[in-house]
Amino acid sequence: MKNTRLTLKSRPTGRFSPDHFDTVTEDLPELEDGKARVRVVYVSLDPAMRGWVSPDTRSYVPPVPIGDTMRALGIGVIEESKTDAYQMGDWVTGFVGWTEYLDIGPGQLNRVPASVAMEDYMGILGLAGATAYHGLVNEGQPKSGEVLCVTGAAGSVGSLVGQIGKALGLKVIGIAGTQEKCDWLVKDLGFDVALNYRTDNLPAELEKHAPEGIDIHFENVGGKPFAAALQNMKAHGRIIMCGFISVYNGEQPDAYPDMTAIVRKRLTLKGFVMTDHFDKYPAIFAELAKLMQSGHLKYRLDIAEGLQNAPEVINRLFDGTNKGKLVVKVSAR
Ligand SMILES: NC(=O)c1ccc[n+]([C@@H]2O[C@H](COP(=O)([O-])OP(=O)(O)OC[C@H]3O[C@@H](n4cnc5c(N)ncnc54)[C@H](OP(=O)(O)O)[C@@H]3O)[C@@H](O)[C@H]2O)c1
Repeated sequence: MKNTRLTLKSRPTGRFSPDHFDTVTEDLPELEDGKARVRVVYVSLDPAMRGWVSPDTRSYVPPVPIGDTMRALGIGVIEESKTDAYQMGDWVTGFVGWTEYLDIGPGQLNRVPASVAMEDYMGILGLAGATAYHGLVNEGQPKSGEVLCVTGAAGSVGSLVGQIGKALGLKVIGIAGTQEKCDWLVKDLGFDVALNYRTDNLPAELEKHAPEGIDIHFENVGGKPFAAALQNMKAHGRIIMCGFISVYNGEQPDAYPDMTAIVRKRLTLKGFVMTDHFDKYPAIFAELAKLMQSGHLKYRLDIAEGLQNAPEVINRLFDGTNKGKLVVKVSAR
């Protein structure tokens, strides 16, 4: 039986391109004792992957080495097992990589119950859900009645941040890049306000909708939306720094924010990365499952077909053409 995987050939300086990867097709060896063989069903495409292929050795994870299978989260099914740790048919999640099959040892991937849709593990019960919940609730410490602003609001993380905020009794202002996304936020997800950073005057609109200022700002993109939020914070407000997608491809931020607001408004800025918080995932997923069951969380998955398309499809995160959590379907469930 053959396996195909994509290995990193060179490091992008701008956008991802298929030229940055080699396609390797090879015979699968006989499975070793003590291991289990996973058939990958979905791989997750995440903005952080752009950082993982940069040469920066001082980031929160080491760079993917040239020649290695591209690092990626995902979910798969155990097809063969020579260890008690995994049974045939188990669903497993974690770092699977851009590959059709991988052989794993005990503890390498997490077994997850097949009682919910497999797709939920790619979004609400995956990195996006954990990030949204941890960032807003644990880092942000929101209180009912406060005003929450979130950028990248129609994205995988941002759409959940806003809905969790609504469930906790906050006034939620989302900032996104198209009118269709803004309509979805207000009409389908129940955001109070959605602003289009391409067409709206953000500083003026934020002042109008948060006249006393923003209590909590959840930052996903950087650039002008961040600058506008910073300018409209309430005194002693909290800013949760989750991501800066506008600069991941090496572009300069399109507006340098007025940092004096941090002093004038006595703000708190907190950065966080979910790889520091694996211990909290079970508690977070239990809370998210409750919110799902009570109908508070809607979610959309944007599914592209075919592992070989991943290097091109991932760019949709950076041009905003993904509609929800972006994944690639590698094989049939
Ligand atoms: N700290 C952590 O542990 C952690 C974990 C997961 C994710 N994150 C971060 O969370 C952020 C969102 O990730 P995600 O997975 O949920 O992706 P996503 O929001 O589903 O997709 C990315 C979205 O970012 C927006 N975007 C892209 N370039 C932009 C730009 N130049 N200016 C403004 N918006 C831009 C686009 O939406 P528009 O159409 O609205 O422009 C695009 O759809 C990223 O910064 C990511 O790195 C952090």
